[in-house]
Amino acid sequence: MSRARGILRRLRAPVAVVCGGVALASVAAPAPSPVPALSQAANERTALLAPTSDRAALLPEGRRLFVDACSSCHGEDARGIAGRAPSLRGVGELAADFYLRTNRMPLDAPDDQPTRHPSNALSTQQKRAIVAYIGTFGGPPIPEVHPERGSLPAGRRLFAERCAGCHQIVARGGQAPGAQIPDLEGVAPLDVAEAVDIGPYVMSRFRSLSDHEVDSIARYVAYAKDPEDHGGWGIGHIGPIPEGMVTWLLAAFALLLTIRIIGERTTR
Ligand code: HEC
Ligand code: HEC
Repeated sequence: MSRARGILRRLRAPVAVVCGGVALASVAAPAPSPVPALSQAANERTALLAPTSDRAALLPEGRRLFVDACSSCHGEDARGIAGRAPSLRGVGELAADFYLRTNRMPLDAPDDQPTRHPSNALSTQQKRAIVAYIGTFGGPPIPEVHPERGSLPAGRRLFAERCAGCHQIVARGGQAPGAQIPDLEGVAPLDVAEAVDIGPYVMSRFRSLSDHEVDSIARYVAYAKDPEDHGGWGIGHIGPIPEGMVTWLLAAFALLLTIRIIGERTTR
């Protein structure tokens, strides 16, 4: 008992130093705060409308809902309102599906970043009607994406070249001046295919990508949710700074323990 207490007492100083170090590290190098990944169930994972859906039947409700929920910013006839929101003529079912399926729209205020939300006041059926209505103004259809047809090495290379600068190589996102870069952990392949075509908010557009390239990127994004950690612990997959910090703290702990034990021996 007293022996155990003795060991505990001996460990108290190094433990305190390590805890202090961790606290200091978290102040000195705050972890990037990416937009949290949403659970698989939080958003619709598949397109709101299928190629065969009966759009005509949805249009009257779509028009009514649009006037109610969207026209204050996008205008009665979807031509946009200067200083508030862009025209939706020609954005197609593709953009409507992306912004409604991920609950980015309706936005609360015109200057907000349109981020993904777990849900909003619109039901799936209502969103489908609005997508059909916006589709009547022309523009690209909802894309088809087949990650299983893509190539993982090609997807990794494309992601590193085109996307990692913002989303970080294992797609955990981060913070950019004036914008949050989302973590892609919770996204569906369809989100990838739509986002590269739209270039939402400050993201660039990647319309020159072939279908095979998009399939490959979608495959890599799915893979990056659970990368194989050949080197050991992933430590959040946010790069060398936290990895170095952990190494440093473990080393400091080992060093202090050694000093302490040597000290005990020599004073005895
Ligand atoms: C200039 C920085 C930048 C680059 C480069 C970039 N993105 Fe993005 N991306 C963003 C931002 C910012 C958002 C959030 C947009 C919003 O708020 O609606 C985003 C959103 C997304 C989304 C939607 C995420 C969600 O939670 O709904 C996907 C998917 C995506 N990006 C994939 C990609 C892919 C794939 C590439 C490369 C081909 C790429 N991005 C390149 C900045 C970038
Ligand atoms: C408070 C104002 C506001 C409301 C309400 C609103 N939007 Fe938006 N919407 C915006 C803004 C601002 C943008 C541009 C966002 C950006 O810069 O990425 C936008 C962008 C969009 C886009 C993308 C356009 C493109 O160029 O790709 C779609 C689609 C969209 N909104 C649909 C809707 C729908 C559907 C509704 C109603 C359910 C709606 N919005 C309600 C402000 C609003």
